[in-house]
Amino acid sequence: MLIQFVAQIDASADVVAFPVRKGEAGALGALLGAAAKQARFEGAAGAIAETAAIDGEQARRLLLVGIGEGSVHDLERAGAALVARLQTSVETLHVDFASAGSIDEDDVLAFAMGARLRNWRLDTYRTRLADTAKPSLRTIVVASRAGDLSARWGSYSAVADGVALTQTLVAEPPNILYPETFVDRCQHLTDLGVEIEVLDERQMKALGMGALLGVAQGSTRPPRLLAMRWNGGNPGDAPVVFVGKGVTFDTGGISLKPGPGMDMMKWDMGGAGAVAGAIKALAGRKAKANVVGVVGLVENMPDGNAMRPGDIVTTMSGQTVEVLNTDAEGRLVLCDAICWAQKAYDPKVIVDLATLTGAMVISLGHEYAGIFANDDTLATRLIAAGDTSNNKLWRFPLSAAYDKLIDSAIADMKNIGPREGGSITAAQFLKRFVDDGVAWAHLDIAGMAWADKDGAVYGKGATGYGVRLLDRYIAENHEG
Ligand code: BES
Ligand code: MN
Ligand code: ZN
Repeated sequence: MLIQFVAQIDASADVVAFPVRKGEAGALGALLGAAAKQARFEGAAGAIAETAAIDGEQARRLLLVGIGEGSVHDLERAGAALVARLQTSVETLHVDFASAGSIDEDDVLAFAMGARLRNWRLDTYRTRLADTAKPSLRTIVVASRAGDLSARWGSYSAVADGVALTQTLVAEPPNILYPETFVDRCQHLTDLGVEIEVLDERQMKALGMGALLGVAQGSTRPPRLLAMRWNGGNPGDAPVVFVGKGVTFDTGGISLKPGPGMDMMKWDMGGAGAVAGAIKALAGRKAKANVVGVVGLVENMPDGNAMRPGDIVTTMSGQTVEVLNTDAEGRLVLCDAICWAQKAYDPKVIVDLATLTGAMVISLGHEYAGIFANDDTLATRLIAAGDTSNNKLWRFPLSAAYDKLIDSAIADMKNIGPREGGSITAAQFLKRFVDDGVAWAHLDIAGMAWADKDGAVYGKGATGYGVRLLDRYIAENHEG
C-alpha cells in the first residue's frame, strides 16, 4: 500500500476521510455535522461515521474518523480504524486533515503509520476468497498543512515492514515455517545490508550446545542458529544483542501438552520473529547503531529419539541441566543462544524475547509483557521505549531466593521450579548464563505475540509485538 503526503486535497477525490478531535464534531459543516449527529459520533479515537454526498456529477463517500485527544496513539488508532473499514471496498482513500485542528508532522505520520500497520494480512492460504473480500485499498493520499512528508516517512515505513515480517513469521503454519525455512525467510535482509550467519546442527554440536540440541533431537527438522548483524554504528563499538526464542512448534515433547489449543504453539517462535522484524526495521531505516539479532530455531517434538524427563544435558557454558520437564524447552534454547552471542560479539547489552511461560499470561494477561533485568537503567529504558511504542512492559523481580528454587540434586540446575512464580524461575534460569558485566533484560512475551481480538493497530492474530519496542529502544539510547 502506497501512502502519499500532499498539501491540498484533490478536488476529484471520491472517498474522503476527515479526522476529528474529540468534542469538536459540533464545529463541522452542515453535512458532516449531521453525519456525526446521526451516528452519535463524538470523535473518540478510532470511531467512524459515514455519509454520502452528491457534488455536481460526482457521488462521494465521506467519513469522519475520531482522533480522540490527538495523542500519537490516538492518531495511529484512527489511521488503523479507517483501513480496517475500507481495506476491501476502496482503492484510493483521501484524508483531509483540515478539520483536525492543530496537527504537526508527527501527528500526520502517526496516522499514516497506524494505517500502514493495520493493512497487514496473510491471504496465502485462502484460495476461495470472494473477489469482494479481497483487499482493494492501494493508495492513501494524506492532505495536511505539513505537506510532503515522504522524506520522514521512509523510516516509519521501514519499521512497518519489520512489523509485517514478524506478523508473517508468527502467522505461518508450522509445516511451512520451521527452522530452515525461518532462515530462508530472513535471507532477504542481506539486501538491506544485514550480515547473516547460520549455524547448522554439526557446528552447534562442535560448540557444545547440548541444551538447544537436546530440544531439537526429537524432531526430523534440523535446528538452526541464525545471527543477523546490522552495522550502522561506529566500527568497533560493541553491538547491542537481541536474542529470540524460535520454537517453530512446541508440542511439549515427551512432557506432551494437552491437545486442545496446541495449534497455538505455532507462535512459540514469536520472540525470534520479533528479533528478525526488529533487525529488518533497523536496517531498513539505516539506524546509526550496531545491533545483532540471534535466534535459536528448533521444533519441540515427541519421538523415539526425543529428550526424556530426567535427562541431563551439558550447555555450551559447561553448566549441566537436569531436564525434568521437556515442555520447559524455551530456556534450554535461549541459554545456548545467549552463551554463543556473548562469545561471538562481547556485547554490553543483551535483550532476549521469548514466549517463555504460560504463567506470564496468567500474571499479566494480554496488556503487558513481563520484563526481568539485572540492570535498573536498562529496565527503565526498555519500559520507556515500550510506552512510546505502545508495546508495554511491566517489571518483575529477580532474587537469590528465587534462584535457589532451580537448584538440582544431581546437576547444576533443573529446568523447572515449583508451579508458583513460574515466570520468575524461568528468568532466573536464563540469568545463570549471563556473563558478569553484561546488562541483560528478558522479556516474556507469551501473552503478547498473538491476540484473540483486534487491537489498536492490528487485527486479531499475529500482533508483531516487540518490533517497535526494540526499534524505539535503539533510537532513544544507541543512536547519536
Ligand atoms: N511455549 C510455552 C509457554 C507458553 C504457554 C507460551 C502458553 C504462550 C502461551 C513454554 O515452552 C512452556 O510450555 N512452558 C511451560 C513451562 C512449565 C513446564 C515449567 C508452561 O508455561 O507451562
Ligand atoms: Mn514448552
Ligand atoms: Zn515453548
